[in-house]
Amino acid sequence: MLVPMSADQLPTLYGGGTSRRVSTRDLQSAKDRGERWAMLTSYDMLTAGIFEAAGIPVLLVGDSAGNNVLGYASTVPVTVEDLLPMVRAVVRATTRPLVVADLPFGSYQAGPEQALATAARFLQVGGAHAVKFEGGRRVVAQVELLVSAGVPVMGHVGLTPQSELVTGLRVQGRGEAAGALVADALALQEAGAFAVVLEAVPADLAERITKELTIPTVGIGAGAGCDAQVLVWTDMAGLTPGAPLTFVKRYADLRGILTEATKAYADDVREGRFPGPEHSFH
Ligand code: KIV
Repeated sequence: MLVPMSADQLPTLYGGGTSRRVSTRDLQSAKDRGERWAMLTSYDMLTAGIFEAAGIPVLLVGDSAGNNVLGYASTVPVTVEDLLPMVRAVVRATTRPLVVADLPFGSYQAGPEQALATAARFLQVGGAHAVKFEGGRRVVAQVELLVSAGVPVMGHVGLTPQSELVTGLRVQGRGEAAGALVADALALQEAGAFAVVLEAVPADLAERITKELTIPTVGIGAGAGCDAQVLVWTDMAGLTPGAPLTFVKRYADLRGILTEATKAYADDVREGRFPGPEHSFH
């Protein structure tokens, strides 16, 4: 059983022993102090509770739920209605982490008003504390309106999976494309974003952006020079089938553990070993 960390084991981002939620100001202070932090995706109450107890200060209810929960081949089919119940579950299950809701494909690209309407649903109905959406200079107007309306925004540049039908899924910002990526990240900061995800970006470019930005960068496949890192939890814990992607480190083999446990259960039932007298009412 997982035992919650004591206050002195918790990262500074957990409020130095206080019981309040991590805020975007805390994340900014961490950058100013040079303190790195880890973000994970979560889509449900059980993992959210575990990740909170393990000290993760920011949970992302990502549209990666598409290929990790909902059975889609990509994030493109994911809708607001798909993600809202997941956001509510993660918020209800936790008291400390900042919960960021991903705006799915088609829910913000039409313009600032659409983005604000979607973000308002995630904050009001979902209880999220911030939203994230993909794009650099092309979504600056959305970021500006949301921030002026009081919605904390996390940006996301580099590989943006919602555009995969146009861009493909490959490393972004190589060679001459580097300047455009720097300009995108700076534009998001200028528009008021509190942090920027850098996905599948060469490590030296991500480090350069991290130094140029005053707000935190959150890397995924972007090397060690970012202020924070994010992984999809099923990748991190080894539940995802197949060989891990280059940028993923597997910290457990949940797929193997669950497979073995399931086989043992099925064997026990077949052989009459389960349920035993201790599992029966007398
Ligand atoms: O949806 C997601 O999980 C994400 C992360 C990969 C950053 O956007």
